[in-house]
Amino acid sequence: MGKKKQKSKGKGRSKPKKKSIASRADRHKLYQAAVQSPEADVEYFSTVYKELRGRTAKSMREDFCGTAYLSCTWADSKKSRTAIGIDLDAPTLQWGRAHNLAKLSEAAQGRVQLVEGNVLDGLGEPTDITCALNFSYGVFKRRDELRRYFEVARQGLADDGIFITELYGGFDAIVESEEERELDGFTYIWQQAEYNPINHHTLCHIHFKFPDGSKIKKAFTYDWRLWTVPELREVLLEAGFSDTKVYWERTDEDGDGTGEYVATECEENQESWLVYIVGIK
Ligand SMILES: C[S@@+](CC[C@H](N)C(=O)[O-])C[C@H]1O[C@@H](n2cnc3c(N)ncnc32)[C@H](O)[C@@H]1O
Repeated sequence: MGKKKQKSKGKGRSKPKKKSIASRADRHKLYQAAVQSPEADVEYFSTVYKELRGRTAKSMREDFCGTAYLSCTWADSKKSRTAIGIDLDAPTLQWGRAHNLAKLSEAAQGRVQLVEGNVLDGLGEPTDITCALNFSYGVFKRRDELRRYFEVARQGLADDGIFITELYGGFDAIVESEEERELDGFTYIWQQAEYNPINHHTLCHIHFKFPDGSKIKKAFTYDWRLWTVPELREVLLEAGFSDTKVYWERTDEDGDGTGEYVATECEENQESWLVYIVGIK
């Protein structure tokens, strides 16, 4: 039996405590603001597709779509564009429907399909572009699992389709560390908590900190294998892609990424870098 609550002997009621910012914050909203730049992705995808295929890309599949922020931005960018977003997590997809999809015009909403499912199941119609952003394929830790995913991604592309993914690296990527970034009304913290040099498995967390000192610890956790550029390119070829390209993010004098990506085959060994890797069907 539980201990009975004692009746308050005080005269008045105590003032209700003000809720912390963290308790009122929405982790998906913070994630989107801190991590994603869907307009820049749409611009990059459009440019690279035109360069490689000589036409405007219309359909896009966003694997590991989360809140489908990119899918919604893609479908909204042109009347001829459609998007399909695939994610395993129903509550995250539901958040995306309520906060991203609902903001689009009715016509644009009709051009977005969100599917609760596994990216390995190859759901939906063939698309011009399939993407897997923010390193989400790192959940596939064995080469045969990654190859299977790339095979399914290739099968789900139109004949002149391309697959676009991202990778981070450099010697900073394999040290246990915490990096803070001040954003509008909150601090974003990226923590590399563990890295095993034997198998390249890495455990990372995103935390958020607020001006009142409150925090959302481990708002998101990622248990990944940190693959390398040559491994990803080799596995793409093994999965049947005819060619691969690497687009390296340029940096300014302070070493910060400029958001400009160039196709390259030889680069300086930077302490941290970001690339897009493109598989050509
Ligand atoms: C790092 S988030 C990516 C969110 C967003 N696409 C982005 O670029 O920021 C990873 C997402 O992948 C989903 N996920 C993990 N494994 C999956 C799988 N096998 N099939 C579909 N979704 C998966 C998780 O539910 C999570 O929403």
